[in-house]
Amino acid sequence: MRLHHTLKSLCVLVPLLFLFSGAAPEGKMSLEKTATPQQLVNAIRRHADTLSEEYLNDPKRFEDNLIRDKITAKGGAIEALAQALEQAKNAPAEVHALAIRSAGHQIATAETFQQAEDGLKNVIANLSAQQKTGNFQELTWGEVGDLPNQMEEINYLYQGLRRTVRRSRDPEADALDAMTVAILAFPTEANENYAFDDAEIAEWKKYSRQMHDDFLAIAKAMREEDTDKARELYKNAPRSCAACHDKFREE
Ligand code: HEC
Repeated sequence: MRLHHTLKSLCVLVPLLFLFSGAAPEGKMSLEKTATPQQLVNAIRRHADTLSEEYLNDPKRFEDNLIRDKITAKGGAIEALAQALEQAKNAPAEVHALAIRSAGHQIATAETFQQAEDGLKNVIANLSAQQKTGNFQELTWGEVGDLPNQMEEINYLYQGLRRTVRRSRDPEADALDAMTVAILAFPTEANENYAFDDAEIAEWKKYSRQMHDDFLAIAKAMREEDTDKARELYKNAPRSCAACHDKFREE
């Protein structure tokens, strides 16, 4: 009886201890530690600016396959950033995260320039929504976006960081790119249908978390303007990509 009671109270106490210490159980990614709501908003704005200034400024560019891939990949990143914002506590009241996620999805799946442009307008409008209108579904991370598209964006951000980890005119802004890769690790981790059994699922999650931790560390070093550290971390960052691709990516 006694033992039973002790066990019971332990079951209550241990999770409570985690709750109060604010510590995530080891190995788990925590959204709160990955990004503040304001950083998420800034990263969405950064992606929206890139789209309007570089890729959606001329309808003809949508005919170019490479540009179109970049547009849809950026849409996928906006989707994930908005999902993170939806789950964040204390998100700015005027931001309509679910509407932005839906608009990001429209860009991610756009087949015409017009669809992508409309999606972008909706992203921007819902960053300062007067009223939160529309009916949007709650989704889990596994239901947000699709992995190959997210991988494209992870790759573009990774390539872009090659220069900015060394030299950045605006470290705070450029660090948002590394942070966005860490955010994209959440849908990656949830996409465990690439794995076939429990052991593989554990491995899949491990590589996703490694990508998360590595890119979050890069973001931190960049914000602190510790260029030597950022460069060193960047050199090691492809380890999670390579390990996961070796195991799970079909040739
Ligand atoms: C947890 C596993 C995992 C991690 C970590 C990972 N990838 Fe991937 N990646 C995949 C899988 C699986 C595919 C194949 C997706 C498919 O074709 O269905 C893929 C595909 C890709 C593609 C091709 C996308 C396309 O258009 O089909 C690129 C580019 C890519 N990854 C880049 C990266 C980079 C860069 C990193 C590290 C910064 C990374 N990946 C980390 C699992 C991972």
